[in-house]
Amino acid sequence: MSETTLVLIKPGGVARNLIGEITRRIELRGLKVTGMKLMNAPRSTVEEHYAEHRERPFFGDVVDYLCSGPIVAMAISGENATKAIRMMMGATNPVEAEPGTVRGDMALTIEDNLVHSSSDPEAAARELGLWFPEGTV
Ligand code: PPS
Repeated sequence: MSETTLVLIKPGGVARNLIGEITRRIELRGLKVTGMKLMNAPRSTVEEHYAEHRERPFFGDVVDYLCSGPIVAMAISGENATKAIRMMMGATNPVEAEPGTVRGDMALTIEDNLVHSSSDPEAAARELGLWFPEGTV
């Protein structure tokens, strides 16, 4: 089923000039970029994005990280886009991510795991509303 999901390229990925490489992989897979913006994320948006983790010990660290430099927010559309993207990004902790995935090829630590992607279609709908309140194309 065609669906739309959210990808964030985190500050480490933007700083390392990986916007093109990550987007290239997504497009090669046959998925469409239907929203894309480079931005300094407002802290309130990042806190809302990670709200379910508010009580976890790393909450402050992950919010600080997302606010430490520019990020790219992308809406990605296509058949089973949410699951396809999650598989392509690899395990949350890069040390457990398979080679061939974005994190398995380009990241090493969970503190700098390069990308975020929505965990399921419900999360995608919530997160897209947060990052693309104006809608996607
Ligand atoms: S998941 O995918 O929700 O099950 O992942 P989880 O392990 O629960 O982590 C939730 C998000 O918090 C990030 N995280 C951290 N960031 C910085 N430092 C530490 N120690 C840390 N631990 C977890 C993790 O990358 C998840 O964010 P996203 O953006 O989904 O990768």
